[in-house]
Amino acid sequence: MASLLRTTPTHLLRSSLVSSRRAALPFLQTRSQSNGPPLANTPVSNFKAPNAPSEEASALKDSNKPASFLGTTKRLPEFNLHGKVVLVTGAARGLGLVQAEALLEAGATVYALDRLAEPSEEFLRVQKRAAEELGTTLHYRQIDVRDVAGLNEIVKSISDSQGKLDGLISAAGRQQETSALEYTAKDANTMFEVNITGSFMTAQAVAKEMIRWGNGGSIAMIASMSGTIANKVHSLLPPPLLLPPPADHKSQGLICPAYNASKAGVIQLARNLAAEWGTHGIRVNTISPGYIATAMVEALFEQYPERKRDWPTQNMLGQLSVPQQYRGAAVFLISDASSFMTAADLRIDGGHSAW
Ligand SMILES: NC(=O)c1ccc[n+]([C@@H]2O[C@H](COP(=O)([O-])OP(=O)(O)OC[C@H]3O[C@@H](n4cnc5c(N)ncnc54)[C@H](O)[C@@H]3O)[C@@H](O)[C@H]2O)c1
Repeated sequence: MASLLRTTPTHLLRSSLVSSRRAALPFLQTRSQSNGPPLANTPVSNFKAPNAPSEEASALKDSNKPASFLGTTKRLPEFNLHGKVVLVTGAARGLGLVQAEALLEAGATVYALDRLAEPSEEFLRVQKRAAEELGTTLHYRQIDVRDVAGLNEIVKSISDSQGKLDGLISAAGRQQETSALEYTAKDANTMFEVNITGSFMTAQAVAKEMIRWGNGGSIAMIASMSGTIANKVHSLLPPPLLLPPPADHKSQGLICPAYNASKAGVIQLARNLAAEWGTHGIRVNTISPGYIATAMVEALFEQYPERKRDWPTQNMLGQLSVPQQYRGAAVFLISDASSFMTAADLRIDGGHSAW
């Protein structure tokens, strides 16, 4: 390869590298091959994961043995969460629930904390799967993260009953679309109370238990790319200054100043918690997703169909994300695979905020 690099003109080398890359990745769809925006590499539809080796397959049925295929002795053991107890707030549905399922697959015992009286039907499917297929357990506790006394009580009772507490993903959050001139102080305070103070108090309750047991732990807070950038308030070219915005100004963009400020708060909060708790072996990081096509966002698309058209064009991959694309990040951050990572923001946004 080194001699090829020395003797081949750069433009020939580049074209041969591109064509060999295309041959190796036949499913890579580039901008020039499609009419619309680039779709990047689409999943291989007939791909099936290999079966677990026989001893690991039998371990899946035994709750006293490591229950995950990934992360067994020969396969990236640092990802194994067997024996770890992890809390996930906001896991009655949506992103939190999808990440909870990933943690269960990696072997963790998971407690979902959410304000909903009943979790979603999907939650019940994951709970059943945890018990029947994964040899682990998914639990539910109803709590509003603003109820600090109740939150502390629940976290302590989980920690007492398990004799440890290893991880937290705080995904509970709210969103409100209101323009800056119309926002009330009450609504802004509620936003900050849930998204910032709620995440803070959950992390605090969990960190106290981690320090009590002395084993360290990992905390991942769900922030947003909108904690770093402002969302476009309309997708067409901005109007000249001092002229009124286009008639469909609100429907095209996403106007949520308090939400975005709250997510910036979460990112900065995490850095400071990491600084204070690092000596206890507690790592604190954030995940900043781009637009995710959750049920809530799909419902918005019915109201504002132009968003479904415009939002994917705002990132480099030309698509919206789905919650499943954040599974790996959850397992990575909670597991020892990220053992030297703290105070970091893992931005997963299809390149949206790099443009
Ligand atoms: N959907 C997106 O495009 C997107 C993008 C970036 C970040 N996020 C963040 O991801 C996280 C999950 O969002 P989602 O899209 O799955 O939304 P979602 O509304 O489906 O899930 C949020 C969950 O949090 C719970 N919750 C809300 N307030 C709570 C409170 N006070 N106490 C306890 N639980 C509470 C809800 O009941 C719900 O189950 C949120 O923090 C959100 O801000 C979402």
